[in-house]
Amino acid sequence: MKPLQVAFTGSAAAPAQFPRDGLPEIALLGRSNVGKSSLLNALLGVKGLARVSAKPGHTRLVNFFKVSGRGKAFYLVDLPGYGYAKVAESERKNWERLVTSYLIGRPPLALCLFLTDARHEPMSNDRELEHFLVDQSLPFAVAATKADKLTRGALAARRKQLESDLGRKAKAVVPVSALTRDGIDEVWKVIRAATEGPPRG
Ligand code: GTP
Ligand code: MG
Repeated sequence: MKPLQVAFTGSAAAPAQFPRDGLPEIALLGRSNVGKSSLLNALLGVKGLARVSAKPGHTRLVNFFKVSGRGKAFYLVDLPGYGYAKVAESERKNWERLVTSYLIGRPPLALCLFLTDARHEPMSNDRELEHFLVDQSLPFAVAATKADKLTRGALAARRKQLESDLGRKAKAVVPVSALTRDGIDEVWKVIRAATEGPPRG
């Protein structure tokens, strides 16, 4: 198999800094600390590429990682997490503005990977995001993160619950662990289906 090539191409604080080459984009969305950066690193097989933080609320900008060398080139987009209780209202507004400016009217956006912690019921801000994605007709798949922390039975139950709840309009619901790599191949299949498919119109 050809090696995967990954390059960090930049952080954006405003739409003018988003890429202009039109390559499909896969965005990682979810609460602060849910495991977005860890999933990105696990998908790309590069430790420390996206910064994993013990302290929540670490990713503040939209970070673009160009993936090429195997199949069609695309961007993985690491978005700042929402719902970190300790951020000021003004910062929450900034998050909303930045993420909304990215998600709305972004034709290259092929799929949102919507991360939710497999251990917990979806929270109100997860539900708000789900409504937003459905309202905007944005295609998304749900990844239930930190699957290694649940027993098989509990994980199967969570998957079922998510399929009839947060993920009922999703392309797929995939339990995943950045630690054991369980589910990583399945997430790759969902990504490939989105990047190789026809562009959103
Ligand atoms: P922000 O950028 O702050 O929004 O966080 P994030 O969503 O990027 O989360 P990050 O990847 O930084 O992970 C947060 C914490 O969860 C870290 O301590 C990770 O080590 C841990 N974590 C992430 N994924 C997994 C997983 O699959 N299993 C386990 N056990 N821990 C994980
Ligand atoms: Mg992060």
